[in-house]
Amino acid sequence: MSDIASLGDLTGKRVLVRSDLNVPLDGSTITDDGRIRASVPTIKQLSEAGARVVVTAHPGRPDGAPDPAFSLAPVAARPGELLGRDVAFATDTVGESAAETVAALGDGDVAVLENVRFNEGETSKDDDVRSSFAGQLAQLADAFVSDGFGVVHRKQASVYDVALRLPSAMGGPVATEIDVLRRLTVDPARPYVVVLGGSKVSDKLGVIENLLEKADKLLIGGGMVFTFLKARGHEVGKSLLEDDQLDTCQRYLTEAAERGVEIVLPTDIVVADSFGDEASARVVAAHEIPADTLGPDIGPESAAAFAAAPGDAKTVFWNGPMGVFEVDAFAGGTRAVADALTKIDGLSVVGGGDSAAAVRQLGFDETAFGHISTGGGASPEYLEGKELPGIAVLERE
Ligand code: 3PG
Repeated sequence: MSDIASLGDLTGKRVLVRSDLNVPLDGSTITDDGRIRASVPTIKQLSEAGARVVVTAHPGRPDGAPDPAFSLAPVAARPGELLGRDVAFATDTVGESAAETVAALGDGDVAVLENVRFNEGETSKDDDVRSSFAGQLAQLADAFVSDGFGVVHRKQASVYDVALRLPSAMGGPVATEIDVLRRLTVDPARPYVVVLGGSKVSDKLGVIENLLEKADKLLIGGGMVFTFLKARGHEVGKSLLEDDQLDTCQRYLTEAAERGVEIVLPTDIVVADSFGDEASARVVAAHEIPADTLGPDIGPESAAAFAAAPGDAKTVFWNGPMGVFEVDAFAGGTRAVADALTKIDGLSVVGGGDSAAAVRQLGFDETAFGHISTGGGASPEYLEGKELPGIAVLERE
């Protein structure tokens, strides 16, 4: 795997960095700058190495043409603030402004280009169209660094094709994510415990399927558990239920039993009249959910069991909250699981944006976890066993 050091002496070299600066905005105000913060170390590393750093990124999904609603301008100032230095902004990606901005860079300077998806060649399904746009991008640089883990599952010009045209390397954060994902899927240290939550089974089919072959124990909570409980023959009241996934859940339960994978489902559930209604909350057995209630959290007995289950695990992967953790009365299950992960003597991984948000919102020290994934669609695709084009292109012989 080629790291930045493999690019040699970068003094005076123009380096194109593909970052993931796709941050949530309220108008032009950044509401969570996590991804920008994650992008700064690589930009800083390159700048300190004397490179002329050209950052390319994409907010949102514009239609292959300039659209002010998706401009990178509101985001472009933030890396400069975090770096404590001026960062130039080009008002196009491969046009006159980009050419002039890049030409004006001195050693160690940084520029951000306008939304790369304002060009139809970026996301085109036509290999030639994409490749030709990548050629224009490549003219702006002497080397390429792939640093946006959130986009490495996209076969797009600034992620994939440009790496075919320039000496290329993987940024540190991307390398770390890939290393962690490999440790979760290739010969994981055992015992290996997987904790899955979140609202829908249908969002996680590929992940469950793949991890069922690798884990020793699978704990299931969150909204998706009700389809499993129903598949075991229990009534689930008004809780989230995916009728069309009942057969699949039944198959998972059977397969797990055949493989000797222990599946742990909650034995009690916090039920309420509605998701926001703390006043009506009470605890019932998981097989006795009243018809007129729904389940916003796993119960305290289950939370204790889920916290104890990882025990002496050497690898634990957690994806998806156990309940509606945003409401304090329904945060017990998620808190118990997060707390258990902080005590693992091995690799503990928090995957997925919701679980990472829960960790932050519930006040956990992020450094107490082995790894918190930056989120996005790339991790689930990897965990489903799919090839990530933005990684494959860097690892080709
Ligand atoms: C994300 O937000 O998940 C990444 O930035 C990728 O964005 P995309 O799904 O629009 O490709």
